[in-house]
Amino acid sequence: MTASLSSGVSAKPAPEAFRWGAASAAYQVEGAFAADGKGRSVWDHYLDDLDLAGPGMSGAVAINFYDRTQYLKDIALMKQIGLTSYRFSISWPRIIPDGVGPANPAAIAHYRQFIADLKAAGIQPMLTLYHWDMPLSLARAGGWENRASIEWFRHYADVIFYNFHDQVDLYVLVNEPLVERAMKQLAEQRMAGGKATFAIVPPASELPGALRTFNHLLLASAAAKKSFDAKGYPGRLGVALPLFPTLTAQRASPADRKAAQLADGVMNRWFLDAMYKGSYPADVLDAVASLGGDIDVQPGDAAAIHAADFDYLGINFYSPLFIRRPAGAAANGYAAEMFIPEGVYAAYNGAVRPDQFTALLDRIRVEYGNPPVFITENGAGFPGDDEMIDGAVNDRKRCRYLVDHIGAMKSAMAKGADVRGYHVWSSHDNLEWLFGYGSRFGMIHVDFNTQKRTPKLSAGIYSQIIRGKAVSAASCERPS
Ligand code: BGC
Repeated sequence: MTASLSSGVSAKPAPEAFRWGAASAAYQVEGAFAADGKGRSVWDHYLDDLDLAGPGMSGAVAINFYDRTQYLKDIALMKQIGLTSYRFSISWPRIIPDGVGPANPAAIAHYRQFIADLKAAGIQPMLTLYHWDMPLSLARAGGWENRASIEWFRHYADVIFYNFHDQVDLYVLVNEPLVERAMKQLAEQRMAGGKATFAIVPPASELPGALRTFNHLLLASAAAKKSFDAKGYPGRLGVALPLFPTLTAQRASPADRKAAQLADGVMNRWFLDAMYKGSYPADVLDAVASLGGDIDVQPGDAAAIHAADFDYLGINFYSPLFIRRPAGAAANGYAAEMFIPEGVYAAYNGAVRPDQFTALLDRIRVEYGNPPVFITENGAGFPGDDEMIDGAVNDRKRCRYLVDHIGAMKSAMAKGADVRGYHVWSSHDNLEWLFGYGSRFGMIHVDFNTQKRTPKLSAGIYSQIIRGKAVSAASCERPS
């Protein structure tokens, strides 16, 4: 697909300048695992105590982004690319080391300085409160499965709002409940030492626990939003959802199609229906009822989530998911698994299908009342795409992916989708959770031994897009 990107970003005049950004998350970039009185997170425990990403794999240094000398150089590179927005996350165990106790002034001072430095470079902050690094003490108390997590998070959010409301007016409350849960399951399988599968679509055995945590995460976000509104702070709050259009193989059976429909219910409608319709989807509730297990959905929960009236929808889009009914699953009830059909062009995070990005944005416009949207993540990594040759990294596949997906977003905007900004995942190569440092997603290459940064071909193309130059996927063949 080639898309002309030379024109303005929207047919309809936007009420604000479109934000062109990139995103990262604290644990994936910061390192400095004990600096300034930081408490331990569940991720320090997974990698450093349990070696769940492999021996010696750790976030203790990551890309050294907590260090001001380093991050000032990174901000200079981001400014050079032309970013006007940076989505980063704050580490909960830095701000409240034990999860619920007193706030840590040194960590607050660090992030205030970081935000001031970003703004001095003309880059607007988009602050994520929670990108998976739960304080270890709270994870040990049951994490999001414990209904008390709603109150833990509201308290943390109040600390953030109180300390940053004069600097920040755009917040992501929580990032990707669905993928966080899949990571947790993978971590637990690795701990148990058995077969480990990264299953974004929860298997039947996991469904009740997953829905329980999703309900608590949404209620926690709603409680934080209510508290922010009650204080009268200026700003917009939303949740970043990983939305996955579901597809089936060409010769799918009716059972496969039913599995895909239910997977859509669990991954997409569970969140969107609660937020925009005030109810949880009946087909998912029926499916989980037949499995048993306490999902802790109480009367009024979905209505409370709806009443929070989030200011925008954050969408993380990587790929659609092909779904089928697992071989040997009983004829009735919930059973769904993801797969990649033979011959399908795929990145680390799934099939490359920009058309499905347009379809998703169309669906949000038509089925969910066209809320303001920020693309909070979009990006890709491909094996072999990030090799440094003669000092340059010509990541042609990522370059084409970005050009095609930005084109796909613009097609949806031309039909009326209310998209206000776009953030590439990620600004830099970084720590890909349980997959370590091998899967690179950045526009800026990082040498993990020396911390040397090298902007890739994709950074150059993104820069041209931001500056309004006409580019097409073919531009990725001619590195400048
Ligand atoms: C997450 C990021 C992750 C990215 C690439 C998203 O699911 O929010 O933390 O690095 O995907 O896999």
